[in-house]
Amino acid sequence: MNITLSNADPVKLKSGCLVLSIGNPKKLTGCASDVNQASDGYLGELLKQGDLQQKAGATLLLHRVPNIAAQRVLLISAGAGSSTSAIDFDKMSLAQAKILSSSAIKDATSCLLDTEVEGHDLSWKSRSMAQALIVNGYQFDLHKSVKTDAKKHAVKLTLHTGDRKNNKTVTNGISHGVAIANGMQTARDLGNMAANVCTPAYLADYAKNLKKAQPSVKVTVLGETQMAKLKMGSLLSVSAGSEEEAKLICMEYKGAKATQKPVVLVGKGITFDTGGISIKPSAGMDEMKYDMCGAASVFGVMQAVAELKLPINLVCVVAAAENMPGGKATKPGDIVTSMSGKTIEVLNTDAEGRLVLCDALTYIAKYKPDVVVDIATLTGAVIIALGNHTTGLMSNDDDLSDELYQAGMSSNDKCWRLPIWDEYQNQLSSNFADLPNIGGRAAGSITAGCFLSRFATEYRWAHLDIAGVAWKQGAAKGATGRPVPLLMEFLLARCS
Ligand code: BES
Ligand code: MN
Ligand code: ZN
Repeated sequence: MNITLSNADPVKLKSGCLVLSIGNPKKLTGCASDVNQASDGYLGELLKQGDLQQKAGATLLLHRVPNIAAQRVLLISAGAGSSTSAIDFDKMSLAQAKILSSSAIKDATSCLLDTEVEGHDLSWKSRSMAQALIVNGYQFDLHKSVKTDAKKHAVKLTLHTGDRKNNKTVTNGISHGVAIANGMQTARDLGNMAANVCTPAYLADYAKNLKKAQPSVKVTVLGETQMAKLKMGSLLSVSAGSEEEAKLICMEYKGAKATQKPVVLVGKGITFDTGGISIKPSAGMDEMKYDMCGAASVFGVMQAVAELKLPINLVCVVAAAENMPGGKATKPGDIVTSMSGKTIEVLNTDAEGRLVLCDALTYIAKYKPDVVVDIATLTGAVIIALGNHTTGLMSNDDDLSDELYQAGMSSNDKCWRLPIWDEYQNQLSSNFADLPNIGGRAAGSITAGCFLSRFATEYRWAHLDIAGVAWKQGAAKGATGRPVPLLMEFLLARCS
């Protein structure tokens, strides 16, 4: 990513495009006011005519503005309010990225840091712009024989910082934005990959390669023999029908004192979910290659944290398996014994995410975590509850839950809490084992969370059900990279 800083007079700056933030069109401030003066009120005139919609992210591209050195001037509305919200500023960042990448502009100077954003500083605004620039340029052509030329749309962006003393804050924000966007890119790439390529073994190799690029990350991979020794009967019951060996992938990053308890992230890594013997209907089943998006987000976060050298201790664990029918597959009614010792009646082999996660949740207690967050495309029911906009959040700890909620709000990668009260816990009852793996049709996401909570007893824990947000369907089918922004915001907030 090519982003530089400048404090030069925007009026005299030579560039392909000068980007200005327009708040109240009647009272231009900052760079917009400078440009307006230099051009003898040219901007004010246009704005009076109402040529720029007063809606955050609305744009107007002008050519040859009088007395301005830049070839073009791009006006971006900061909205109609007196100040701009974080969500609206993200819209401005995205609008900027879209216009710069889809035009003939090769280099631009942006004055969007002029915008007053509620509750956020220069660093955050710089991050938003850098992130939008990379995220907007995302292409996935791994499986295409003709690749797109990424360089063709690359723009050189200069951020106008106003004052040299701001440069350090701005640089810091840019590096956060770049790392988060790269992390999202990793998550999207892994999600979008075909399931015959992205297998549990592929994810294990991916972790080992991550360690090569980031030596600060320690990687251990457990295969089925080792998992059997640990008595992970629940996890192994999911891969039983598959030719692909399940892997438990553990990545450890130490950025703080050894005495500081780690944050542990656990990702659901079902590289393909057929449903097993409780097989899914065939329509749209291809989308079940995305059933490892929790794992993908965990890889993205580990990469970004190592890239930023954050002062925290982080452990990421991925429970990777393929859920297939087959002669050796688990059957409805089979009873398996989890690593915790609890027995589980597998009433539906399609409720496999919780079966791999519960053993991972037992295993990670050995890291003596401060907090644990699992991330999983766990239930179709969360889409019924929250649609494709919001991640489902469940937790055994109010403070941790609040931290995640706030992180979602300020990263615009939102989550919303659902209860896991005893009324719901009671829906999990089995005549034959300690608990069943399903709790009936009602409150499907909650009973899945309740199931996990039974195994997350030794630490503060939260569960993110990302089934509705991890990928898009239809013409724009593809992984979103969520909830990498939420998790990064959560970790960054813990660092400060
Ligand atoms: N991976 C699915 C959840 C899912 C479904 C995510 C559709 C995104 C879109 C999960 O393994 C699953 O199959 N869950 C079942 C649970 C049920 C059997 C209790 C579901 O949601 O139908
Ligand atoms: Mn399933
Ligand atoms: Zn699944």
